[in-house]
Amino acid sequence: MSQPRPLLHFTPPAHWLNDPNGLVYQNGEYHLFYQHHPHSLTPGPMHWGHAVSHDLLRWEHLPIALAPDEHGMIFSGSAVVDENNTAGFGANALLALYTAHKEPGHLETQCLAFSLDGGRAWTKYAGNPVLPNPGLRDFRDPKVFWHADGWVMCLAAGREILFYTSPNLKDWTRAGSFAPQEIPRAAVLETPDLFELPVGSSRQMRWALTLGINSGAPAGGSGSCYFVGGFDGFTFTPETFGWMNYGPDFYAPQTWNNAPNARRICLGWMNNWQYAAQTPASEWRGMFSIPRELTLVESEAGISLAQNPIVEVNARRRKTFAMRGRTFQPGEYPLNGEQAAAWDVEAEIALGAADCFGFRIGASTDEETILFCDVAAQTINVNRARSGQVNFHKDFATIHSAPLPGGGMVALRILFDYNSVEVFVQNGRVVLSESIFPAAQAHKLTFFVAGGALTVKNLKVFQLQTEAL
Ligand code: FRU
Repeated sequence: MSQPRPLLHFTPPAHWLNDPNGLVYQNGEYHLFYQHHPHSLTPGPMHWGHAVSHDLLRWEHLPIALAPDEHGMIFSGSAVVDENNTAGFGANALLALYTAHKEPGHLETQCLAFSLDGGRAWTKYAGNPVLPNPGLRDFRDPKVFWHADGWVMCLAAGREILFYTSPNLKDWTRAGSFAPQEIPRAAVLETPDLFELPVGSSRQMRWALTLGINSGAPAGGSGSCYFVGGFDGFTFTPETFGWMNYGPDFYAPQTWNNAPNARRICLGWMNNWQYAAQTPASEWRGMFSIPRELTLVESEAGISLAQNPIVEVNARRRKTFAMRGRTFQPGEYPLNGEQAAAWDVEAEIALGAADCFGFRIGASTDEETILFCDVAAQTINVNRARSGQVNFHKDFATIHSAPLPGGGMVALRILFDYNSVEVFVQNGRVVLSESIFPAAQAHKLTFFVAGGALTVKNLKVFQLQTEAL
């Protein structure tokens, strides 16, 4: 039997996938490149796989864009549109900046490739590497963007982020550095991204720096965090810190350069280096999160980064089951009782006398994933201990916990797409992202309440489908 796929989440045509790379928009197309080993289900000599989309949900697979060469394997990086021909390959050329990784010796340098036909054919720059290794281990994952009057690169270098500037994407000058204090001791930093956003609907602007850290994330293993602060073109000054995910499976986040309407859309790898090469798979392994729109919101904790599923998901909703202002006594409520491969739930709940409430998503009580709010502990939790295949790694069958910010109301958005659950709490201020490996392909949704009554102010349940209506 062929390995089933989620409805709306990107998976590779075959074999291994990890980080999203080279996210860039040009001429109506969102480009998605990704870390890909096209010959096996485990990591190996990395390539850049490639796909394009008009709506970020329906992807057309294209041939591999970049394959290993004399400089090494093609590790993570980014892509830009060279509107003004600063690099001399042509106006509006697409340029990719990536890490070349050489074994043995773990030598990492930064290299350049260009495309003059909308990303279909790629040529590696003859002068590679454009940034040689200065004697550092773990010197990788360039994210490049245009700022003021030149190019900026952020690069992970061990436990620091380094910034470089360039007029032409070929000659790079070292600018500042940022060494975060909040990072667990053993962690290495990877896949930085840096971008500016307005704070709420105000005219105030701030910069967000997102990072992969491996390891020591809240749910164990690799995870993603962010800093909000200032960037002066040379260095970053942090104000607030937060985790992008309290679940185990959201890594190497990257945002699209040049997305229309100043949208900042982010994609993460829904996996964890702890067990990524051991997850059940027969044809393909690895997938991306639902694309998420990022915003900055002001709260009691300062300015934080919020993530919400892109609005394009709403066009895939069908069959509403809705209720308003209904009080539930302790018990189980199978909602509309139907089974579906993918669910999208919006709930607004007033905390009353109940001490626990949540949703069970699964085929039966033998195979289900449980999302619950522990009212006394003020946490939102996901329990995947009985979610399907769990025994392939000792750290998989666990419960993950996120702090619940705010007071007496809980707003939840839950996306369940066959083999993943993504929970966006309080309008995306706190997120849990989880991979699961269920045997069943259709699941039903049950709401439950324990310890006392509770009022659902608003509940909307949709089934999701692959095609827009
Ligand atoms: C992050 C990462 C990057 C590296 C790539 C290799 O998951 O380790 O630092 O460039 O994956 O596939």
